[in-house]
Amino acid sequence: MTQAFLPYGRHSIDEGDIAAVTRVLRGDFLTTGPEIPAFEVEFAAAVDAPHAVACSSATAALHMALAGLGVGEGDVCIVPSITFLATANASLYCGADVVFADVDAATGLMTPETLTEALNLAGERARAVLPVHLAGALCDMTGIEAVARKAGLLIVEDSCHALGTVGPDGPAGNCARSDAATFSFHPVKTLAAGEGGMVTTRKPELARATSQLRSHGVERDIAAFTRFNGKAEPWTYEMQALGYNYRMPDINAALGRSQLAKLGLFADRRRHLSQLYREQLAHLAPLVQAPVAQPPVDACRHLMNVAIDFDGAGVTRAELMDRLRSRGVGSQVHYTPVHTQPYYVTLYGEMTLTGAETYYARTLSLPLYPDMADGDVGRVAQALAESLGGP
Ligand SMILES: Cc1ncc(COP(=O)(O)O)c(C=O)c1O
Repeated sequence: MTQAFLPYGRHSIDEGDIAAVTRVLRGDFLTTGPEIPAFEVEFAAAVDAPHAVACSSATAALHMALAGLGVGEGDVCIVPSITFLATANASLYCGADVVFADVDAATGLMTPETLTEALNLAGERARAVLPVHLAGALCDMTGIEAVARKAGLLIVEDSCHALGTVGPDGPAGNCARSDAATFSFHPVKTLAAGEGGMVTTRKPELARATSQLRSHGVERDIAAFTRFNGKAEPWTYEMQALGYNYRMPDINAALGRSQLAKLGLFADRRRHLSQLYREQLAHLAPLVQAPVAQPPVDACRHLMNVAIDFDGAGVTRAELMDRLRSRGVGSQVHYTPVHTQPYYVTLYGEMTLTGAETYYARTLSLPLYPDMADGDVGRVAQALAESLGGP
């Protein structure tokens, strides 16, 4: 019997999720209904943040968080080069420039040192930093906060990979050392909502600004009106800022809520599978290195991003991916350094970031998602061992 193909990431949907979505489809609101505030309250509680604002994607969340904090033209945002494009692109949407920070070559994470280097390049215009908790591991937020605050920077944590991770300051997204954090509910992430995003913050004024930006800058609370106060009619709303349609549909929020109820189970499963990987890949060292645990951080890994010495193994990454695929194992690369993307090279010119380029040269993401069986990790480890040995 052929075994099922193991993709690098995949959503886990059960009958409860399907029932939650169906309930919305049979109800009165497909969007702007009661699922949204309910999801926001539950999500805020899950990550121990006072405010959460749901939106259509994490890209929207990053844009709204930066815009809501006042980042704009003339500013510079510092973004690690190893991330998804959205972290950098959101800065440009605000009219700001990006200065790419290097990362630690082993973990792919921005560090206080690489932030300091980027700050030196950015100079006076530096306004915000966006640390990315790559693969669910946490950046050193104590060190990054110290450097950032000294330089007067705003901090927006791109926590898209880190839902379920608990660090020394509590759950990722509680904003203990940042102004805001952002999450994605794209299907390969820890919670799937189809598409969807969330901003969390401790700042009530930012929560208010982002919820306005999500819907065309519209304010519906008469008490907060600035112009139509005396002549508010039942239909009156005020546009107080230039916003967007970044709303999350209730269909997605219902799925997000149903998934959120299983966050503990998902996180336990990801932790367990990550530990199995560490054990079952150990014999392939030094050619293959699983990401090491970083206590006291209890990471809920989004990706099993192993480091492979392709030269040492005498195989290219593309060949290895091909061999794995022929054995039923999917893999992916996270990420091509954003500073090398043609759009950014055209904008800012060529630059060398040694840590990012070294990390990129070695990284490969192996299958990791809650529905994987324990035995699947053994299958991947065996496929990897065979593939390193030859086609
Ligand atoms: C680190 C990171 N930031 C931002 C995003 C953007 O998320 P979304 O697809 O929800 O817009 C992603 C999604 O892949 C991501 O991995």
